[in-house]
Amino acid sequence: REDAPLEGKKVVITAGPTREALDPIRYLTNHSSGKMGYSLAEGFRSLGAEVVLVSGPVKLAPPAGVEVVDVVSTEEMFEAVKQHMDADIGVFAAAVSDYTPVSFSEGKMKKTDDTDNLVIELKKTQDILKYAGHNNEGMYVVGFAAETDDVKNYALKKLKDKKADCIIMNDVSNPAIGMNSDDNEVTLLFRDGSEKHLEKASKTELSQKIIRELLEHTGRER
Ligand code: PMT
Repeated sequence: REDAPLEGKKVVITAGPTREALDPIRYLTNHSSGKMGYSLAEGFRSLGAEVVLVSGPVKLAPPAGVEVVDVVSTEEMFEAVKQHMDADIGVFAAAVSDYTPVSFSEGKMKKTDDTDNLVIELKKTQDILKYAGHNNEGMYVVGFAAETDDVKNYALKKLKDKKADCIIMNDVSNPAIGMNSDDNEVTLLFRDGSEKHLEKASKTELSQKIIRELLEHTGRER
């Protein structure tokens, strides 16, 4: 149908931050608001897709008609995404913690008198985008690259290492765009070497443009 070109297609999207617990009351996280992922979910839904939104803790209302799976940690986000590897398109917009504490303290961590410095040991988390890139059966895999410097080189490395079909890069050093703001400005890098810059716009407006570009490419590549 012309007004619902994605009817019958399934899209899985990750959004928001993850939280890695240190003890019952403290955690490591970041400033992601979830707005980018939620607007993409709304955009895909408006085109008729079945949308599963795996969301870290955010203050946004669940988009109408979208199945929201609430998670807290990276581990939980990974487990949830694994249930939806049959999706036709996967968009990984969450700001996932790269590291998590090696151990969780069952009781509240205490302040000690013997030293002014506290060292917390961290270990790498599961890379959800990389897992999807390497273990899918025909999913069109779209990741983000949030960088503060040398944005394009890191984004190209992610495209290759994570076996994504497209990496959407945004510069998160600029407070007017990217993380926790209403607007964003992005460049899409595709596996075929082409790229597309999308000027600064509200995340809602930008999502529609991103989806249009992605659909053009999936059509071209299949
Ligand atoms: O939530 P908002 O406030 O609207 O902000 C949007 C955003 C800036 C968070 C979003 O546009 C964005 O860039 N999301 C990705 C943030 C990020 O973690 O980027 P990264 O360069 O560290 O990670 C690269 C990619 O791997 C991302 O697709 C990320 O979701 C994914 N990843 C990273 C680590 C990990 N353990 N698992 C992952 O899936």
